[in-house]
Amino acid sequence: MNEFVEKLYHTGDLTDNELKLLIESGTADNLAEYADEVRQKHYGKKVFLRGLIEISSYCKNDCYYCGIRRSNKSAERYRLDYHDVMNCAEIGYSLGLHTFVMQGGEDMALDDDYICGIIYALKEKYPDCAVTLSLGERSYESYKRLKEAGADRYLLRHESADCDLYYRLHPHGMSLENRKQCLYNLRELGYQVGAGFMVGVPYQTTENIISDIRFMQELQPQMIGIGPFIPHKDTPFRDEKGGTLELTLRLLGILRLMFPQVLLPATTALGSISPIGRTLGLKTGCNVIMPNISPEDVRKKYMLYNNKLISGGETAEGLEILRREIESAGYEIAKERGDCIK
Ligand code: 5AD
Repeated sequence: MNEFVEKLYHTGDLTDNELKLLIESGTADNLAEYADEVRQKHYGKKVFLRGLIEISSYCKNDCYYCGIRRSNKSAERYRLDYHDVMNCAEIGYSLGLHTFVMQGGEDMALDDDYICGIIYALKEKYPDCAVTLSLGERSYESYKRLKEAGADRYLLRHESADCDLYYRLHPHGMSLENRKQCLYNLRELGYQVGAGFMVGVPYQTTENIISDIRFMQELQPQMIGIGPFIPHKDTPFRDEKGGTLELTLRLLGILRLMFPQVLLPATTALGSISPIGRTLGLKTGCNVIMPNISPEDVRKKYMLYNNKLISGGETAEGLEILRREIESAGYEIAKERGDCIK
């Protein structure tokens, strides 16, 4: 496999066949070393922290994998108000965070006026910070208004670039076509855009993963979020197997070599399947961590999957633990807001 790793390192690409062999091979090669070399060439030892604010657990969608899907009657629903969000940001800022990520289900009550009001306030109070949104599919007009209000980045995982797999993960009413259109709209409007998918989601084949990679080569997102699928007990996928640490790390390494300058988080899901998941992610090309700064009492209600890692950066102690985790892996927390260098 080393020859494919070398080729990927030198040329930034592989044929579908080579990719398949590399993805499916064990870890007995130097992928992690090369991925780390490339991340250090572009970003040094810096790790960017993003304060994650889970703004609403209401969702109008019914994705088969997700714990906050509409049909899950056991999910407790909540929505943060303006003051809740500003409080989270104040705590996050005092801990040194320079990006706030507002993430939520597709909650109809999160209308443009409401979100724009929060964006204005955050930008006014913290002009040195970036505002990232992760609020799902919205109209072009809505994305435009949010951008004009000051939003900098938008995370919208494409989930699967393969039509058949996309429809096995989402009920009709959602479409891959619209998903992709949203991503292209966001890019056109000048957002820094994040795409991505879950690793080891039911029915996913290596060919599907290669389609995801090819789609992202076309889109050229500034951020890529991937993490293992983790079953949730109140979803149709409750009895399915989860994605593995090994495959997730393998894909992270490959993505770093293919997208040398991308912002690549060691995700909460990765940290949730293994206590050393995020550390291994950092050593395999990741350069972002997203500590949770949502209020303590809502943390458990934003359960996309079971056993979600709910410690985080919400307190000085939590952040200190994270700092030690990052430093013992050989990296350091960056002070700046951490835009993509492309
Ligand atoms: N396991 C892992 N990740 C999940 N997500 C949703 N449900 C799960 C799950 N069961 C991911 C989706 C979504 C992101 C916010 O969380 O990819 O885009």
